[in-house]
Amino acid sequence: MFQYKPILRVLAGERVDPPPIWIMRQAGRYLPEYRALREQAGDFLTLVYTPELAAEVTLQPIRRFHFDAAIIFADILLVPHALGSDLRFDIGSGPHLSLIRQQSDIDRLRDAESVNETLWPIFEALKITKSNLPKETTLIGFAGSPWTTATYMIADRHRFDTAIKFIEQEPRIFDTLIRRLTHATIEYLSGQIAAGAEVIKLFDSWAGQLSGDHFLRYVITPTKDIIQELRRRHPDIPIIAFARQVDSLSLRDYAVQINPNGLAIDPSVTIDQWRENIPPSISVQGNLSPAYLCGERQDLENKVKVILNDFSEIPHIFNLGHGIPPQAKIENIEWMLKTLRDWRR
Ligand code: CP3
Repeated sequence: MFQYKPILRVLAGERVDPPPIWIMRQAGRYLPEYRALREQAGDFLTLVYTPELAAEVTLQPIRRFHFDAAIIFADILLVPHALGSDLRFDIGSGPHLSLIRQQSDIDRLRDAESVNETLWPIFEALKITKSNLPKETTLIGFAGSPWTTATYMIADRHRFDTAIKFIEQEPRIFDTLIRRLTHATIEYLSGQIAAGAEVIKLFDSWAGQLSGDHFLRYVITPTKDIIQELRRRHPDIPIIAFARQVDSLSLRDYAVQINPNGLAIDPSVTIDQWRENIPPSISVQGNLSPAYLCGERQDLENKVKVILNDFSEIPHIFNLGHGIPPQAKIENIEWMLKTLRDWRR
């Protein structure tokens, strides 16, 4: 069958010109229509757990910018929430979870198999979103990778020294936590695929905080386990993996061992690093620095063209190298889109 969704074509290894585009954290506070609905809902979790509202927020950037993918409005911290951790999003200081300190804190968590009893509203939101998407737009489901999700469960305010000390002092407790998150994430992502997600993205935003054996054990292995099991259950599901701030050799190990359909890269990864380290079967997603969306139009246009030219021989999904900040200017997004859609090889 002819595949008419550009993102799915790229993830199947085809070069599409100009590249399809979506942006990391595309539903969010830089959009006035998001801020209005967010205020109406009262708090972030109400928005996330009310399927009609979550679907509406997911569709807002599609209507405004005609991006090639919609990513379901949710958060990586819903998995710990469904396992029984308290979750709060405080204005200004980011998310807070009840912390894991000892084995009894893990024993109190729910079984991995039961997370979908809490997370079904996300599946409803996926169904509503899908029935309202243009036929060429791909629906992306996502979760955090276990390491990044675990960092929020063991160290408040992202004190990575605390998290790494915890691994060294309580390796068995930490291993149990990673395993529980791995299983819960598999169940949750399987549920998203059953509800209509056509691509899965795994976010390991804090992967760069680990190295050596820790990187292998807590970044590569659990992510690989999740992907293998998802592919066993859903053989055709394309997967995009994102490991941020990782050095070239670790990124090579990650790509080779995990073997995702697409690898999302942060703004520091160059085309030379890509060519040297990443197997040619993997498509690239990225990697504009979000800062360009807050700056001058000419700098933005120049950088977008550099990225398009650099990756012009590789199946490419244009995206940011990290999430869009609330200060991003809407006219810059429009300019980025115009630059991309006018670009020719
Ligand atoms: O991309 C999208 O539009 C889909 C929704 C999405 C959210 N979070 C909604 C959200 C996605 C894909 C995420 C992923 C996520 N969440 C990551 C991985 C990607 C990355 O940015 O590194 C991480 C680390 C989180 C955890 C998280 N959630 C943090 C640290 C924060 C607070 C910082 C912030 O930006 O406010 C959140 C809150 C959050 N998640 C918001 C949104 C729209 C802001 C909440 C609000 O509206 O007040």
